[in-house]
Formats: sequence, structure tokens, C-alpha cells
Amino acid sequence: MMKWAVLTLALMGVAWAELAPPERSYKILMLLPVSSKSHRNVFLPVAEGLADRGHKIVILANHPPALNHPNVEEINHGLSEFNTEAMDLFAMRPDPAVVFKVLQDALPIIARKLYKIPKVKELYDRRKEFDLLVINHMFNEVVYPFAHEMPFITVATPGMDSRQSAVFGNVLNPAYAPTFMNAFPLPMSMMQRFLNTIAHIRIAATWRYFDVLPSVQKEISSQFPDLPPLLDIERNQSLALLNSHFTVTGVLPLLPSQVEVGAMHCRPGKPLPEDLESWISGAGSEGVVYFSLGSMAQGQSMPKKYRDMFVEAFKQLKQRVIWKYEVALEGVSDNVLMRKWLPQQDILAHPNVRVFITHGGLLSTLESFYHTTPVLAVPIYADQPKNGMNIQASGLGLMLVWEELTVKLIVNSLKELLNNPKYRATAEEVQSALRDQPQSPRDRAVFWTEYVIRHNGAPRLRSPAATLSWVEFLMLDVLLALHVAVVVAVYVLRRLVGAVCSRVLGSRSTGKKKKKE
Ligand SMILES: *[C@@H]1O[C@H](CO)[C@@H](O)[C@H](O)[C@H]1NC(C)=O
Repeated sequence: MMKWAVLTLALMGVAWAELAPPERSYKILMLLPVSSKSHRNVFLPVAEGLADRGHKIVILANHPPALNHPNVEEINHGLSEFNTEAMDLFAMRPDPAVVFKVLQDALPIIARKLYKIPKVKELYDRRKEFDLLVINHMFNEVVYPFAHEMPFITVATPGMDSRQSAVFGNVLNPAYAPTFMNAFPLPMSMMQRFLNTIAHIRIAATWRYFDVLPSVQKEISSQFPDLPPLLDIERNQSLALLNSHFTVTGVLPLLPSQVEVGAMHCRPGKPLPEDLESWISGAGSEGVVYFSLGSMAQGQSMPKKYRDMFVEAFKQLKQRVIWKYEVALEGVSDNVLMRKWLPQQDILAHPNVRVFITHGGLLSTLESFYHTTPVLAVPIYADQPKNGMNIQASGLGLMLVWEELTVKLIVNSLKELLNNPKYRATAEEVQSALRDQPQSPRDRAVFWTEYVIRHNGAPRLRSPAATLSWVEFLMLDVLLALHVAVVVAVYVLRRLVGAVCSRVLGSRSTGKKKKKE
């Protein structure tokens, strides 16, 4: 049964219609100078997909080159102010505001230094040579000078972001659209809708008008005095590629200019290196548990008490464990294989890998859905609790909270995931829904990127809502006019009724008086 499902899906992949050949080779500049490694990883499939079609891609990032492609040039600006690998996420976990503070400090410095780097300045000077810019929408307002009088699109690396959506004129309704930082289960309670509404407003307002952008704007204005405000340039974006898919991340209303391309980095598994292959198949019918906290949270930053719990829990398993961990660790049992780097998708695709213990980053979450691997999510921060909640709600796995961890809880949760077939069954259902698309998400990203170039910024995609002011959008003027109309009508009516009554009563009382006389 499962084999057939896999085979049909493989055929479906092959059956995806090919894109028509491009009209010519475009020059595309991708700007993501303030990115985590996983944000960068969302850009790579887009860059690769475009480069494979003969377009010339230049990527400006804060990471060493990762693609070895003749059509891709990768420039690492080398500033170290935003280095997510140096962050201790576990230390930040109790107070997410710390991450915000890091950005608040780093962004103005990056804005001050970036355009003084010769290769960045040179790129800026020749920006008009490019047909299109592709910008990381999160944290990267510093590059908007590039986008002035240029067509550009954005990649929304965390998927839907209500703050960005509002810029397009698609203001999400906080009654059912949680911010990406809030893990509220749907439907939300009255209290949660209240908190969610506040969060929508607070996140947008503090970022744009109070704590972050004004200081970036100041730095940019001093270098580009004639430039329009950054927030005006931002409004001119033609399209957003969202790293989400409704099957995994939930259903929200989208404009034609908001295109879901989630799971575009996912691909069928490739054969594993021999040692890994024999370790995994050598586990026999008990199978393998795979444990990785992603590229940002280094395993060694995990507090010792939690690490000891996992070591102890793995001792009690009949399964073999593959653990992505950066340094050697003492006291680990023989059934555990530790490596600094692992080919995650190829491992998840292996049929003998039964459970994925993950921090629930968006890319890992999409991969687990794509490869039908049941999940034990231990979210650390940011959007991870929300992803973990989605995993649990969709029936793909379970979520644990670090502060509540015990050896027994880890073992029991793993046993439940390993022994109860419902998780794998749900995973297969979700996977077939996720893969059932008219074209691959990567082709869709390529199509819409080329579309914006073909149609000179595609102004026909713009929503009329984007040009409205808040007063117009929320219809405050119309509601006020209605209110005034009602007040006036009531006033007039009362006067009228009053006049009529006093006439009738008045004539009656004079009538009575007349009778008495
Ligand atoms: C807005 O974008 C269009 C193309 O998408 C471009 O031609 C125009 O110059 C841009 N306007 C500004 C102010 O950047």
C-alpha cells in the first residue's frame, strides 16, 4: 500500500508540466545581507532554479558561497554584526525580546557599513544592469536603496508575515490569523484573539515606527539624502514568494501577488554515504531515530541537564539514534551515532528512519511533512512553537516543552511515535496533499519571478487596497459619515415626532378646555 503511494507520487513528480523556455537570459540580483543560514537556504532553490534556465544570478549575502553553479556568483559582504551561528538560542529562549534587541543593535551598524564595502558599492553602482532584484523581506530594509526605481520581489522566508502582507494591501484578520510568533491554537479564545490583535499591531508598529527602522532610516538617509523613505520603497514590491504551504502552515487569504512556494527546497532522497546507509539499515526492524536542532541552534548550546536527559533516554531505546551534534560527547551509548553534519533530507527519506526529533524550524517542518517522518518537536523560539503546534494539531507528531522535559517523557513520547501507526498514516495523507500540485513549488517560484520581469514589474498584480490610507481601509470616514447620518436622522425624527405630538396633544387639550367652557 505504502509502496504504491510512493510510486504514484514519484510518477506525479515526473508528470509536472515543464515551463516554457525563457524569452532570454535575465540578470537577477538577490539581496540577503542580513540572513540566518536557514533564510539563505530558502533562497538557494530559487537561485538554482533560475540559474538552471540560463539566467545570471548574483547573490549578496552574509554567508560563504554554497552553490557551485556557473550562472551564480555569490558575494559574502563579510560583516559579522548579524551572525546567527554565534547566538546562543537557549540563552535567549526565556526572553524572545533578546533576539529583537540583537537586531535593533546590529541593523543600524550594518546600514552604516554596508555601502562602504567596495564590492557592495560596486554592485550598488551597477544595479540598473539587472532585470530584477529579489530581496529577503525580513530584516533587510538596509538594501532598499538598491530597489529605488527598480522592479523587485521579496522572498518571505518565514512564510506568511502579517506585517508584510499589510504592505500588499492584504491585512490579515487577527480573529483567525496568528502572528508568526504566536502559538495560539485555532479557533482562538476571546482572550487569545485579544492578545493576537495586540501582537499584530505591536510587532508592526515597534519594527516600523519605533524601535528598529527609524535608526536604519537615519543611517541610510545620511548616505542617500535624495532617496524616498524606506517604507515607501518597500510598498513598490511587485510580488512575494512565501515559504509556506496551506497543507502545513494553514489556510489564509492570499492576493495574486502572494505566491506560496513552501517545500521548494525539498527533494526526493539520494543514496546515503555507505557508512550511514549501513548504520541505518543495520538497525533492522526497530528502525532509527534522527535528532537535529537545525543549523542555527548548535547542539552544544543545549544546556547540560537537557543533553543528559537525551543521552539517558537514548540508552533506554531499542532503536538506533543519529544525532547531529558538533563536538564529541562522553557517556553516549553504543546505539547512538553522532556527527557534525548530516544529509538531513536523505536521512529523512530513508524508510528505516522512523522519528525525527527537531526544533521545528520551518524548513525542517516542511521536510518532515514531505518525507512522511513522524516528528517529536522540541521548539526553541520564534516561529518554532507555532510550527510544533501545527505538527501536533495535524497529527504528524508530538510537541514537548523544554522546561517540562524528563527522561521518562522523552522515552514515552518516542515510544508512542514509534509504536502507534496513526502518525505514519497521517504523515502519508498530509504528504500526498502537499505533493499534489500542478507544478513543483520551485517551478512556480521561477515562473512568477520571470513573470514580473516579462511584465515590467507586473503593475496589474497590485491590489487597490495597497494605495488606501488606514482611514480609508478601515472605512473610518465612511463609518463616521454613517454615524453622523444616523444621529441627524434620529434628531430630525425626534423633532418631527415632538412637533406632531405637541400639535395633537395641544389640540386635544384645547378641545378639552373648550368642552369645559
Ligand atoms: C516602482 O517599481 C517600478 C517597476 O516595478 C519601477 O519602474 C519604479 O521606478 C519603482 N518606483 C520607485 C519609486 O522605486
